[in-house]
Amino acid sequence: MTPRLTSHVVVFGPSDRSLQDLLAALGARVTANPADQLAIFAVSGASPDVAIIDVRRVSGLPDGTAAFRRRYPGCPMVLVSTTLDPGLMLDAMRSGISECVTEPLSEEGLVAAIGRVTAQRQPDVNGDVYAFVGAKGGIGTTTLAVNAASALAKRERTLYVDLNVAGGDAAVFLGAEPRFSVTDALDNIHRLDEALFKTLVVATDAKVDLLASSAQKMGWSIDGKRIRPLLEFARRYYRYVVVDCPRSDIGVMEALETADRIVLVTNQELATLRNGSRMATMLRQSFGSNRVMVVANRFDSTSDISHQDIERVLGTAVKHAVPSDYRASLQALTQGTPLMLKQQTRLVGAIDALARDLAGLPAQTAVTVRGTGLLGILTGKK
Ligand SMILES: Nc1ncnc2c1ncn2[C@@H]1O[C@H](COP(=O)(O)OP(=O)(O)O)[C@@H](O)[C@H]1O
Ligand SMILES: [Mg+2]
Repeated sequence: MTPRLTSHVVVFGPSDRSLQDLLAALGARVTANPADQLAIFAVSGASPDVAIIDVRRVSGLPDGTAAFRRRYPGCPMVLVSTTLDPGLMLDAMRSGISECVTEPLSEEGLVAAIGRVTAQRQPDVNGDVYAFVGAKGGIGTTTLAVNAASALAKRERTLYVDLNVAGGDAAVFLGAEPRFSVTDALDNIHRLDEALFKTLVVATDAKVDLLASSAQKMGWSIDGKRIRPLLEFARRYYRYVVVDCPRSDIGVMEALETADRIVLVTNQELATLRNGSRMATMLRQSFGSNRVMVVANRFDSTSDISHQDIERVLGTAVKHAVPSDYRASLQALTQGTPLMLKQQTRLVGAIDALARDLAGLPAQTAVTVRGTGLLGILTGKK
């Protein structure tokens, strides 16, 4: 007996009642559209369960196929064609179509193809990737990245990927004891699925899942070509993926290339600014100014080097200035608890603003700074 389909199937192609009837007879809810609708097709709410592209009476893949794939990255696609033409198959594969059914169409053939693509179906999270890179070591890049990730994790599923080799500190900041690392994920990139990925990450109290730094020795470098597939995989499952990038590694360029936003962390020291200037130029040229955001950490408004000086040297606006708070930072570190889980301070407020800015969330209008203050006295609220 042929199993029944209970899914919403959209068919693109010249109207063909027999295909629609076949799908409907299998229990599917069918929506038929001309192929030129592919580029602009949109449904409200969840994406269709399967898309069928019928090219039996046309030559080649319809133009809108790639646009549909981008709009519905998680929607499995099946091609229906008269023959298995190699050129067409290649085009189909490039557009993310992984199954093809040829004539004569049968219930069994359709059900089997749809069954296979829906089994591979990925949830449509399509999250954002934010890469943090420091203009110099030891200036607080990991501090900002971990706390921004914690701020984001209060809202939606967040993953932290520590790309540092030997001595990535994110696990310490997050109070986690990872058993696996980025290396394990990269080594297994070809068989990565949700279940395997779950065993490679470690859940933390900050609700951030951590894919920890590799414990390999210095001098070992990550395989750059696998970074991109890893991050693309991660963004299917996580709304936010925060990447802690080392400065000098070939793989880092791949991570930066994948990132929606690149946060370049600086401070007000000359050595940092010198590096920062070079890096800001390189990042803008390679990835475009829109993707680069400069943040000044441990910002001291009384310093000889002002906010404007940093902007002049780096050639970019300094979007966020994060204050220095030695005591809070040290305490958070020794307790393995991100600052964001603790009391509201100026430092926490600044990092929360940075996280909101990255995620395009509205800025918080009133920041409740710890302490009663005048408003507290007036309202009697602590
Ligand atoms: N805004 C800040 N105020 C005070 N100390 C900070 C701040 N940001 C970072 N630090 C401290 O600076 C040190 C280095 O931070 P870390 O995030 O590990 O730097 P990086 O990742 O750039 O090497 C840590 O001891 C951290 O607690
Ligand atoms: Mg670091």
